[in-house]
Amino acid sequence: MSLIVVTGGAGFIGANFVHHALATGARVINLDALTYAGNLDSLHGADANPNYRFVQGDIGDRALVGALLKDHRPNLFINFAAESHVDRSIDGPAAFMETNIMGVFNLLEAVRTNIDNLPDGFRMLQVSTDEVYGSCAVGAFNEESPFRPNSPYAASKASGDHLVRAYHRTYGLPLIVTNCSNNYGPYQFPEKLIPLMTLNGLEGKPLPVYGDGQQVRDWLHVEDHCAALMLIAERGVLGETYNIGGNSTLPNLTIVKTICAILDELHPDAKGESHDSLIRYVDDRPGHDARYAVDTSKIERELGWKPSVSFEAGLKRTITWYLEHEDWWRKIREKNYSGARLGLGAS
Ligand code: NAD
Ligand code: DAU
Repeated sequence: MSLIVVTGGAGFIGANFVHHALATGARVINLDALTYAGNLDSLHGADANPNYRFVQGDIGDRALVGALLKDHRPNLFINFAAESHVDRSIDGPAAFMETNIMGVFNLLEAVRTNIDNLPDGFRMLQVSTDEVYGSCAVGAFNEESPFRPNSPYAASKASGDHLVRAYHRTYGLPLIVTNCSNNYGPYQFPEKLIPLMTLNGLEGKPLPVYGDGQQVRDWLHVEDHCAALMLIAERGVLGETYNIGGNSTLPNLTIVKTICAILDELHPDAKGESHDSLIRYVDDRPGHDARYAVDTSKIERELGWKPSVSFEAGLKRTITWYLEHEDWWRKIREKNYSGARLGLGAS
């Protein structure tokens, strides 16, 4: 039975991946520092599974990461741990450099110094983002596109990806990078577009659309991302990078209006008003990327992967999940968040 060490498994994608991996019968050790974005409630169910173990700690702790590799000799090491929110990287970039660059450096050093004791077939996946490529007016980024990051977040992720490439080329370590587009689904922290708009809409609060709302993102359901990562872990070529995306590019305003229409149906306003009356156009995000799109032909051709969840079905399922899991999001919203650039408080 394979053993996977996951870092950042209490965050959005990491927690979904932990559930996904346990369902395949794998054993999982989850190392997470539990920053504001880490949430053990997202691991409900996994925590009762004898194949699962949680370790609280920082990916920057060399001794701890080294001991996990040395003592447990995992087959797969997959890094989700990161500072992940662009707006926060604009307000306070230091933590992004610490975790997304120095943290990755530390993980690579831990692998380098323990590689002789790791099992045959061991590999490490660095989970990264399409934002490293910057913005593209037309077409889509492929794996050969140059890195042109535009936010401190994207620049820190690009730096981590460069380190992984260098450690493969220089030391021959068994490493792979994945660059994925915007994910959505259960357990996403409600500072990101889809959960923020859903929950503000539910609570009758303003829906802050940055600029004119015409920026385009590509959307992938998190389950499809997890399935792609598993496939790459099993069959991806070492030293390669793989784009992952949903082939579902939409302007933000279309997404917000679609969320409003789904809320009108699933949770009608008491006064019969449409939720889209809550839309407010606010100052644009500085350095805002106008459009992302990723060419996923490499993973489709080489590994036979394709997304299985359509955006329409996935969005409705996600909104239904938030409607049914108030216990999960209420605590987070009361603590710290309901809308960044509007400066909304919790009340
Ligand atoms: P998230 O912010 O929801 O979760 C990050 C997790 O990492 C949290 O549990 C946090 O506690 C943990 N963490 C942060 N710093 C740490 C540290 N120093 N040591 C240990 N743990 C630490 O992030 P997410 O949205 O789940 O993203 C996961 C990864 O996927 C990130 O690397 C991100 O760049 C990448 N990614 C995200 C998306 C997306 O749409 N969310 C898309 C493509 C790629
Ligand atoms: O492309 C992958 C990236 O997707 C990941 O690497 C990041 O970790 C993840 O956060 C996400 O980045 P974005 O900046 O695209 O996601 P966010 O949900 O913050 O914003 C999506 C779009 O919606 C973006 O164009 C900004 C806009 N937006 C966002 C918020 C929070 C608004 O218009 N209003 C908002 O309140």
